[in-house]
Amino acid sequence: MRILLTGATGYIGRRLGQRLVEEELQLRLFVRDPRKVQESIRPRVEIAHGSTFDTDSLRKAMGGVDVAYYLIHSMGAGEDFEKLDRISAHNFLEACIQAGVKRIVYLGGLGQEDATSRHLQSRMEVGEILSSRKEKIETIWFRASVIIGSGSASFEIIRNLVQKLPIMTPPRWVRTLTQPIAVDDVLDYLVAAKDRKVEGNLIVDIGSEIMTFQDMLKRTAEIMGLSRIVIPIPVLTPVLSSYWLGLITPVPMRVASKLIEGLKSETCVQNDNAKMYFPQIKPVSYETAVRRALKEIEEDQILSRWCDSSAGEVCDTLHEDIAKAVFVERRESDLVDMTPDEAYRRIVGLGGKKGWLRFTVLWRIWGAVDTLLGGYGLSRGRRDPNELRIGDSVDFWKVADLVEGKRLLLVSQIEFPGTAWLDFTIEDDKVIQTSYFYPNGVLGRVHWFLTHLLHMLVLDSLAKAIVES
Ligand SMILES: NC(=O)c1ccc[n+]([C@@H]2O[C@H](COP(=O)([O-])OP(=O)(O)OC[C@H]3O[C@@H](n4cnc5c(N)ncnc54)[C@H](OP(=O)(O)O)[C@@H]3O)[C@@H](O)[C@H]2O)c1
Repeated sequence: MRILLTGATGYIGRRLGQRLVEEELQLRLFVRDPRKVQESIRPRVEIAHGSTFDTDSLRKAMGGVDVAYYLIHSMGAGEDFEKLDRISAHNFLEACIQAGVKRIVYLGGLGQEDATSRHLQSRMEVGEILSSRKEKIETIWFRASVIIGSGSASFEIIRNLVQKLPIMTPPRWVRTLTQPIAVDDVLDYLVAAKDRKVEGNLIVDIGSEIMTFQDMLKRTAEIMGLSRIVIPIPVLTPVLSSYWLGLITPVPMRVASKLIEGLKSETCVQNDNAKMYFPQIKPVSYETAVRRALKEIEEDQILSRWCDSSAGEVCDTLHEDIAKAVFVERRESDLVDMTPDEAYRRIVGLGGKKGWLRFTVLWRIWGAVDTLLGGYGLSRGRRDPNELRIGDSVDFWKVADLVEGKRLLLVSQIEFPGTAWLDFTIEDDKVIQTSYFYPNGVLGRVHWFLTHLLHMLVLDSLAKAIVES
């Protein structure tokens, strides 16, 4: 069996790729940036480079495929996301039909037909598009609500709220019923779907216990051994609550608002197909899901995170050209008491809990300002304290390039009018740290001049600290 996996660099897709390589099959990953594929599976997969908006690349990727997984969305692409998702799903379906693919497996969101959330409606529309040609191709469409796993956005919100706030006063939506599911169970269903014999299309709602977000907060606190008081108050609007979540948790306002929108109406399983067609899968309890997620976090075994995708229509690790930068500053530091490899390890260990070596307070202020402006700030941290891969988030940066022992290029995701890069290169016995800034219009230039002295101070000291023993 040949499988095509899309979304293989995203939260679910990365984990599914890891599971599918264990099976006796040929696995082809369809990715926008092949450099993002994790090393652990690279030798065992074929990689097809493309985008669902590029029909040629889709056509080439589909050759000889039996089952194609659709784990894609365009929610980070701004206001037009529904339109983009529609086009993307149509392109995918057509390419599957032309190539004679036998089955599409799709994971979308769980919700009622009249759900007010645009994001959920769009996920449903995608499912309908993918299922619309049943005379030509069958589709198994899974629908899940809150997914509990290390690095999932919902779990990061729950964990951070519970950890940071002894008294929580969440708004009313925390009492809406939902049906969370452990990420491993989601993967079990997705893996099983490729072999399950069905006649035509199938919609499979998946979930474990029915509970509210408030129950999840309380149960997580108990599991973490924390005593927490939850008093829901009616005054917080969804906008205010997403702003609040953006301040307290690593998940920024724009992502939090989509999750909240989704939880305003019930998101519970509406059919029995999971039990009927996949009786061998018994979803674990909420408690087990949380314990597993916490264990992975404690052991630095987070395989994927909610912020792994580059979001937008195009890959944000690539779309701005560093050569366009207007302001460039180069700092060279000699390696005296340190080998090039030690310097490289120190560079790829920057950020997250270890911080940025000097001027911690200034970095924190920088992060806080970014968070207040709706950005990621520093709270996003990093996936793993020592290991990095292209596409990983490091506080308010993303890894745009990584060459073992030689180079780390970070691109900023800071809320300011422009794009900044921080490039570390190791050449012979030197570390060369270069900062690049591309201002967006006049505002970008004003920003640069107003903050330049501060940046100089912080980046000069960082360059020196990296080579100090
Ligand atoms: N995560 C959850 O908690 C959750 C809950 C319920 C349902 N789901 C469903 O699960 C599915 C996957 O979600 P996710 O959380 O894994 O998403 P994600 O982490 O945001 O990843 C999205 C993936 O899609 C890729 N992609 C986006 N646009 C593309 C395009 N035009 N062409 C090719 N690849 C493209 C991204 O590639 P880049 O790396 O290049 O950006 C990334 O690999 C979605 O349908 C979602 O509705 C997820």
